Amino acid sequence: MGAVILGTGSCIPERVLSNHDLEKMVETSDEWILSRTGISTRHISGKGEQTYQLATNAARRAMEMAAVSADEIDLIVVATISSHMLMPSCACFVQNELAAKKAFAYDVNAACSGFLFGLDNVDKYLRAEPGKKVLLIGAETLSSRTNYQDRNTCILFGDGAGAVVMEYRNEDRGVVASNLFSDGALWNLLYMHTAPSCNPDIEQPDNPGAHILMEGREVFKYAVKAMEGAIRDLLEREQVDLGEVSLMIPHQANIRILNKLVSRLGINKEKVFVNVQKYGNTSAASIPIVLDEANREGRLKPNDLLLVCSFGGGFTWGATLVKW
Ligand code: UT7
Repeated sequence: MGAVILGTGSCIPERVLSNHDLEKMVETSDEWILSRTGISTRHISGKGEQTYQLATNAARRAMEMAAVSADEIDLIVVATISSHMLMPSCACFVQNELAAKKAFAYDVNAACSGFLFGLDNVDKYLRAEPGKKVLLIGAETLSSRTNYQDRNTCILFGDGAGAVVMEYRNEDRGVVASNLFSDGALWNLLYMHTAPSCNPDIEQPDNPGAHILMEGREVFKYAVKAMEGAIRDLLEREQVDLGEVSLMIPHQANIRILNKLVSRLGINKEKVFVNVQKYGNTSAASIPIVLDEANREGRLKPNDLLLVCSFGGGFTWGATLVKW
């Protein structure tokens, strides 16, 4: 039917940044953060935990589960907005770490929707090239792109990576269909500059450096509506009833966004995997981290229908159905 996931892996940095730690850094409180976001802790990279290193560790765990070795990998795709270099891509660093000599490698930038957009790319690649094996990774060190003096953003973000190994199988499982969107007109509600330009004629005005800037309330409102629309369209197009969904795997941004989405859709809360309380918002890494946790906890059974959805900067958003 489509590209199937043969193995999952994740890697979370050791260091924990709690709400109480943040109380000492900005004017906030554990109570405010918990009630407005559902987040208690997030993990922050230390030495040896660059984006590509987290990505590589997650990839190794996924390859081990899939019993696939690095020299069998044909393509490495990393969804990220926080690689330590703009060029080469994070995926090329991962390729080098793994010594995955025959693979070609590139990054996807779709912010928090990066993994979902990458999943669609990989599914289409594998349908065209059955027999190939792909490593798809979402990895972020958003701590390197967060202004820890801005209480609107610094309470939200965390670091981590998740990975999957994929292959085309002529079986009734795998990626079923995707419904993806972008709206570049809304870029200025959630964005991040790069390094200052070397060419003064094309310097961005008011470039404060490469950290995340966000109009949280606007993002919140748009995210709920957009994801609901993408999900409803997809289910209708695929003639799937919400009751047939075994587990919803949403991007982990804020528990209130998830609760609103869940109540608007009318899906049973028990069917929604949530770990935002532990890791905060890890952008492109959140969905593959959830996938790995759900998989290792035994919550994914053969033939389960997974509903994956995301929303992020761009704006970018969408929904995908995966038959496990
Ligand atoms: O992955 C996709 C990208 N991002 C998101 O999905 C984030 C979406 N947005 C959100 O999660 C929420 O909008 C936030 C958690 C960022 C903010 O929650 P909110 O309920 O929308 O709060 P708000 O921005 O409307 O601010 C309410 C009040 C303001 O004070 P005033 O103007 O009412 O006096 C803020 O200044 O809360 C204040 N505030 C804080 N207070 C304590 C903002 N941040 C904090 C803070 N601690 N950390």
